[in-house]
Amino acid sequence: MAAPSLIDLDLQSVRRQFPSLSLTVDGRPVVYLDNPAGTQVPQRVIDRTAAYWRTMNANQGGTFVTSVRSDALIAEVRQAAAAFLNAASPDEIVFGPNMTSLTFALSRAIGRELRAGDEILVTRLEHDANVSPWLALQERGAVVRFVEIRVPECTLDMSDFERQLSPRTRLVAITHASNAVGTIPDLPAIARAAHAVGAWFWVDAVHYGPHGAIDVQAIDCDFLVCSSYKFYGPHQGLLYGRRELLERLHPYKVRPASDEGPSRWETGTQNHECLAGMLGAFEYLAELGGSDRVVRPALVTALNRMSTHERALAARLIEGLEQIRGIQIYGITQRDRLERRAPTVSLTWPPYQPESLARWLGSHQVFTTHGDHYATELMARLGLADKGGTLRIGAAHYNTASEVDLVLELLAGYRPE
Ligand SMILES: Cc1ncc(COP(=O)(O)O)c(C=O)c1O
Repeated sequence: MAAPSLIDLDLQSVRRQFPSLSLTVDGRPVVYLDNPAGTQVPQRVIDRTAAYWRTMNANQGGTFVTSVRSDALIAEVRQAAAAFLNAASPDEIVFGPNMTSLTFALSRAIGRELRAGDEILVTRLEHDANVSPWLALQERGAVVRFVEIRVPECTLDMSDFERQLSPRTRLVAITHASNAVGTIPDLPAIARAAHAVGAWFWVDAVHYGPHGAIDVQAIDCDFLVCSSYKFYGPHQGLLYGRRELLERLHPYKVRPASDEGPSRWETGTQNHECLAGMLGAFEYLAELGGSDRVVRPALVTALNRMSTHERALAARLIEGLEQIRGIQIYGITQRDRLERRAPTVSLTWPPYQPESLARWLGSHQVFTTHGDHYATELMARLGLADKGGTLRIGAAHYNTASEVDLVLELLAGYRPE
């Protein structure tokens, strides 16, 4: 098999920066292919978090040095997050514990604007965190509709999307990339159609985050949510909201908390140490893109380099899996269309259970995930909901061609217990 193209990415130097990549268990190096469930962190994230505890641990708004430092750091993270998402202003960035909590908070506020019969369009590709918060609005009379997909390649059925979109649609909520099968929908086209009927466009970028540069202006979305533990940072969520919408909607908040700027959406005390760690993740990416400051061009360069490498890994993985008789891959497999998917490969191999395959790999210290991946509608649509879901092998930029070869070798040699 040809070596994947590692253009522009010095993999050895990348891997040296992630302490957990050199972990060994029972004398074997561990292989992280569970990245869609969360990535490992570079030393810079660990250092940033530790430095927060050591030199600036305080609550907001104090008149003493640690509080002033802490507030300055949070402002710096907001600026860096705006560069990461290409938001026009840091005022459009809201922090929260994770994507799910942020989505529930915003969906509840959006619900205040809806009338009975208003429609919300989601898809069968979604992680349930981009479904349940909208289903919750059914109690206010909202109608939730699902856009169908084409199987087994698991792409959106755009004619069904056009059929279901109507002047009654108030919100379209779609994933930037499926966390189960990797599909990347054509978001700018969907945004244009949604805006043409006057709907708001909500994007779940949690899975896409580590696999390409997110650009809220190019997508032209109204809201976008992601989580830094998927892009080499700590467990920390962030949301982009178009400024006029963040100002217009009414959050559920306590009275004394500020009603100005993004902080009106940030209920309670934020997780400052994780915000510090997230800055470390942005700095890591910027450095990979050739800059010692968190600036947009460096972030884009880094993510482009990473995705080139990841695509080569995905091609190698898919090619190898196709040679194992009986394995069914879900998602795009054509080599010339791999830019339409993340390097996240879901498969079944009847009669073996996805969990048994994951256990076998795990017993060799190769980490993968199994089950429905919270992609509830997708698993139902694929007929896998009561069959244990899929085995999911998800690459990140620090994975190597030999790690992909190892997972293939182990699968080819699988013997049920
Ligand atoms: C596509 C997608 N959306 C949403 C979520 C939920 O994110 P969080 O854990 O930050 O709530 C996940 C988590 O795996 C995900 O993959």
